[in-house]
Amino acid sequence: MIDIKPYHSSGSKKKQIMQMFDNIAKSYDTLNQSMSFGMHHIWRKKAIKKLNKNTKDILDIATGTGDFAITAAKYTNAQITGIDISKGMLKIAENKIHNKNLKERISLTLADSENLPFDDNQFDAITAGFGVRNFEDREKGLKEIYRVLKKEGMLIILEPSTPKYFPLKQMYNLYFNHITPFIGGIISKDKRAYSYLPESVEAFPTSKEFIMQLAEIGFTNSQYTSLTFGSVALYTAIK
Ligand SMILES: C[S@@+](CC[C@H](N)C(=O)[O-])C[C@H]1O[C@@H](n2cnc3c(N)ncnc32)[C@H](O)[C@@H]1O
Repeated sequence: MIDIKPYHSSGSKKKQIMQMFDNIAKSYDTLNQSMSFGMHHIWRKKAIKKLNKNTKDILDIATGTGDFAITAAKYTNAQITGIDISKGMLKIAENKIHNKNLKERISLTLADSENLPFDDNQFDAITAGFGVRNFEDREKGLKEIYRVLKKEGMLIILEPSTPKYFPLKQMYNLYFNHITPFIGGIISKDKRAYSYLPESVEAFPTSKEFIMQLAEIGFTNSQYTSLTFGSVALYTAIK
């Protein structure tokens, strides 16, 4: 498997990911909104609606600027903990949570998904939006998620993916490989961040392979739903 890193082929991927998200934090939300044509709200809502109504606490892994945690607060009654390795992204999340009066519902912690500062079997549910692809060691990150999830708790993952069929595949490739890096580079001033994006999506396992990896870690009932013509993958799995 090719290990795609943001800036240099040598050195720690984690450090580079941290630096990249710190660099693009201020423009992340604007670009996310425009590049997904606002669809990311629909993807997040669909994902959160998969949760059991009795979910009391949720860990949002790779929370970034907090949108998945905020959606969870809107559609559930749960307490939410968001973690991320990028201080820059968490700062934006903190401001949004404050402005939306959600401080009582969402707490944020600077932490690494590959070494979670939580007890075994602590959370009813775990969400991870567009973050797993960026882990340095995906197996380690998923094992940590499994460890802190309660028995019968649900894991929900959103990841970008590539449509499979003509003509959407070709249109998507043009958009994602050329237009997105061009616009993203200009607005975020980090050209590499938005060419890393399609490369990292390409390097991510297929839905079948990823479901196999979840099963190897111990998850059961893993399911894959294709959203918006296959441009986003929604995974659910149970511990
Ligand atoms: C594309 S952003 C997604 C943010 C947010 N979840 C969303 O849906 O918009 C990916 C996030 O993953 C975080 N990340 C990457 N590796 C991580 C790790 N090992 N532990 C925690 N966060 C990580 C990055 O810092 C970044 O904020």
